[in-house]
Amino acid sequence: MPQPWWGSAVLYEVYVRSFADSNDDGIGDLVGITSRLDYIRDLGVDAIWLTPFYPSPQKDHGYDVADYFDVNPEYGSLKDFDRLVARARELKVLVDIVPNHTSDQHRWFRAAIASPRSAMRRRYHFADPKPDGSPPNNWTSTFGGPAWSPEPNGKQWYLHLFAPEQPDLNWYHPAVQKEFERILKFWLDRGADGFRIDVASALFKRRDLADRPLVADRITGAPRLDWTFGIIDRPQLKDVYRRWRQIADGYEPRRVLVGEIFEARQHSMYILPDQLHMAFAIIHQRWDADLWRKSIDVSRRALLGPGIEPTWTLSNHDATRPVTRLGGGELGRTRARAALLLLLGLPGQVFLYQGEELGLEEADMPDSARQDPIFLRSQGRERGRDGCRVPMPWHRGRPNAGFSKSPPWLPMPPAWDRLAVDAQAGNGESVLGQFRRTVAARRRIARRLPHRLEWHAAPAGVLAYSRGPLTVACNFEDRPARLPVSGRLLLGSNLLVGLRFGSLRLPPNSAAWVLQ
Ligand code: NOJ
Ligand code: CA
Repeated sequence: MPQPWWGSAVLYEVYVRSFADSNDDGIGDLVGITSRLDYIRDLGVDAIWLTPFYPSPQKDHGYDVADYFDVNPEYGSLKDFDRLVARARELKVLVDIVPNHTSDQHRWFRAAIASPRSAMRRRYHFADPKPDGSPPNNWTSTFGGPAWSPEPNGKQWYLHLFAPEQPDLNWYHPAVQKEFERILKFWLDRGADGFRIDVASALFKRRDLADRPLVADRITGAPRLDWTFGIIDRPQLKDVYRRWRQIADGYEPRRVLVGEIFEARQHSMYILPDQLHMAFAIIHQRWDADLWRKSIDVSRRALLGPGIEPTWTLSNHDATRPVTRLGGGELGRTRARAALLLLLGLPGQVFLYQGEELGLEEADMPDSARQDPIFLRSQGRERGRDGCRVPMPWHRGRPNAGFSKSPPWLPMPPAWDRLAVDAQAGNGESVLGQFRRTVAARRRIARRLPHRLEWHAAPAGVLAYSRGPLTVACNFEDRPARLPVSGRLLLGSNLLVGLRFGSLRLPPNSAAWVLQ
């Protein structure tokens, strides 16, 4: 069977609020993205994933949806979406669907809290407090504090795994299930090529809402509350995703479903012919050859079936930028370049996050500028995710690095423009230049490469694998390494990578692709 379009695709996450601003109000928008489609196309990627652009009070930057059938006026209109899809042509467009919770401003929730007799209450999780007045159970919110808040004018509490402005839906309710099928069809009929499914493994909650037990932490052994208890991987998800898959398969060409499923070990439950197509396998290990190899092996072994491979990613709008994670500054950037080669050689799909192609770092900003609910709800104890969401620098020497004539919604650090697109575009050795070359090479050879991946013996701190004629090697150490490899050097993550007489020279923190 021929591989589907996404089989070895490279997909690019566009964080809508921070990508491109067409009307200089400091906020990215759909028309801005449309105006930059050529830039995205030139990266050589196959598809984009747009983060949520629905009407939303932006308490969690779009992941608090007030209306699933429209576009936030800050970002444009449905017409702008249609135009974006039309102009994207062969570039596929995935939309973010947020089924676990709505905004507290969604008409269902507003009706639910307006009257204790409202039928809408059953579409969420309302429960009585414990007799001592404490929350109904000990579940905690991912954003800190209890997962329950008292309703504003009533006697009960409601469940929110995230911010209080994001009440969780009751997925046992048939109307909830029906509504999301309608939402899927609405965007697919408008030309979306599929969905990235937010919090895909947590839709159903244990019906008895029992307290979470203590478990021993896998690493430290210390007792902690089991955060997966009662919410993750519930069997009822199967029926929902079976129907979603039928809907996706009912379109020509078939549409795709990508799940945000945190635990790689569980991916085989979801990546099945009648369930989802992909689930993110994020590598967030520190820069250590053994840990990266383990992470790759765990994700690959978790999947069942011939030709089924993980959906690799290093980052997204929730993760500290890889450059910073891997050491920061030029060291971090050197390692991130090597990491990209390692990643793009793997079998399966790869998701890249806007700005990775520029080697952007996590940006610092004054506390007063921070907006992430994680920062706000932890009173600043946790820095939150604003640092990886700072707008794209487009032009060197222009105010706000050419993103906008107005101050952007998150401030850009001084000299952010040195990494601007136009500062790198003409330079083949820039991060952007290397990125384009690597994606182009992958595109040229991907279909010829077998899925089978073979690890090679390599010096300590070096990983080397091959897939048929392609060998990928990466040196994680701060000292140079040598490796016997025959073939032609196709790509090196820096200019000092060399191959002579069957010996591959890898400078510190570098990687190479060698083709037989
Ligand atoms: C995952 C999203 O990526 C994140 O940004 C959001 O805060 C949570 N889901 C809740 O929707
Ligand atoms: Ca704008």
